[in-house]
Amino acid sequence: MSVPWTVVGAGRVGSVLARRAGTRTLRRDDVEAPRSDGPVVVATRNDDLDAVLTRLDPAVWPRVVLVQNGVLDPVLRRIGLSAAGVPDNGPLVTLGLLYFAASARDGLAVPGGTSWFCGPEAANMVAAFTELGLPAGQLGPADHRAATGVKLSWNLIYGLLGELEWRAGRPNLVAAVTEARRADCVALCSELRPVLTAWLGADPGPLVADLFAYSARIPDFPVRLRELSWRNGALAAEAARAGLPTPLHDALLARATS
Ligand SMILES: NC(=O)c1ccc[n+]([C@@H]2O[C@H](COP(=O)([O-])OP(=O)(O)OC[C@H]3O[C@@H](n4cnc5c(N)ncnc54)[C@H](OP(=O)(O)O)[C@@H]3O)[C@@H](O)[C@H]2O)c1
Repeated sequence: MSVPWTVVGAGRVGSVLARRAGTRTLRRDDVEAPRSDGPVVVATRNDDLDAVLTRLDPAVWPRVVLVQNGVLDPVLRRIGLSAAGVPDNGPLVTLGLLYFAASARDGLAVPGGTSWFCGPEAANMVAAFTELGLPAGQLGPADHRAATGVKLSWNLIYGLLGELEWRAGRPNLVAAVTEARRADCVALCSELRPVLTAWLGADPGPLVADLFAYSARIPDFPVRLRELSWRNGALAAEAARAGLPTPLHDALLARATS
């Protein structure tokens, strides 16, 4: 039996997880005081992390589990927290890479593969997810960093290609995007791999097979550009910083945001 856990944020991920686990979600006014002793899963968007984390009692930080897509290093550094990729910066929090799709608050979490956790609450999260029927595993910091590149590349690439399909008046569900944009997807995987490696300090691998495998499991999830400053915008900035050209990504992003 897994330990009880708390979910902060009653959005798609938070609601779906809380309902499945039979726990309640903490909303804006009650985030200071998670009642259970187990993991505190923060399921808000990336831009809300500063507000949520600074309102939580610092005694709770070691139990925090962050499940946002993207590279969370800037917010961890600002607040004074450590995690895979940001060592020796303060209390160690747990990071989760969620491989499921939640497209509505009252919907289901459609499993898309193994969700990976790294940090002090990783074992509790794996036990909780396993109990809920969601595949989960634990990774060490270096492997988790590489796995972050894989998940981020899926968000970057499918968000961008989905946006282009949507703007062209065509379906932007994952299966349709794979079908229509397979060549772009493959080309973006090889173009972005060196940038992700430089950014994360870990090589995410060839990406293509991992991305298509995840996509095949969540064919009906709609994809569009989201959280640009944490995803494609951040990627473009990191590419510029590393002096690595990304002409295809730049051209598609310009079209998708014009
Ligand atoms: N959806 C997916 O399938 C999926 C899969 C993997 C990872 N993720 C990641 O998970 C994160 C959440 O995604 P989502 O789709 O669940 O987003 P969402 O549906 O927009 O939900 C975010 C929720 O956070 C709440 N919130 C914001 N600030 C808060 C605060 N200070 N205290 C308490 N609650 C607060 C929002 O409340 P209001 O409604 O009042 O604004 C909203 O209910 C994102 O970073 C996303 O990248 C999503």
